[in-house]
Amino acid sequence: MNISKIFQNNQKWISSKLDQDEQFFDKISKGQNPEILYIGCSDSRVTAEEMMGLQPGEAFVHRNMANMVISIDLNAMTVINYAVDHLKVKHIIVCGHYGCGGIKAAMKSDDLGILNPWLRNIRDVFRLHKTTLSQIEDESKRYDRLVELNVQEQCINLIKTAAVQRASKKWDINIHGWVFDMSSGKLIDLKINYKKIINGIEEIYRIK
Ligand code: CO
Repeated sequence: MNISKIFQNNQKWISSKLDQDEQFFDKISKGQNPEILYIGCSDSRVTAEEMMGLQPGEAFVHRNMANMVISIDLNAMTVINYAVDHLKVKHIIVCGHYGCGGIKAAMKSDDLGILNPWLRNIRDVFRLHKTTLSQIEDESKRYDRLVELNVQEQCINLIKTAAVQRASKKWDINIHGWVFDMSSGKLIDLKINYKKIINGIEEIYRIK
């Protein structure tokens, strides 16, 4: 990859944006008001805005290995709190993807050093759903299911946060769990029933 190509690409992108709307950069310079917080994997094949067809200003984005929402991750928690408390987003999306390297690594016993504590959060998801997962004989189908269950658990982790609980009492904030299938390019909605989950776990995780 020739890095100078990126600057040429940038010039082309500026021109194409100005062709569509000559005020484009003036408008986005004034501030942001995104309705969506997107939490996805850092994987280079799973883009955020491009696959969703969104423009600059439409999604606040956080990406990390295996799209995790970990309560003591200052980075993720800062993004979530800012997006909810200040931007007042209406939708929070957790998007996983089939073929996720983080999920695969968590399913193997290799010592990956600094990655171990991160991947252990995925092993915890596996332990929670061990009965379901151990019934799936095909290894790649088992990984796929773990990708989906991990998205579900990260949605639950969002619900555990005080920020989301506060917001859910004030406006109609929604949490969505999706999976990107890179073999077809499709986004799959796991149809996670966030309101039902909140009722089921409120007794344990409620923060007043
Ligand atoms: Co991944």
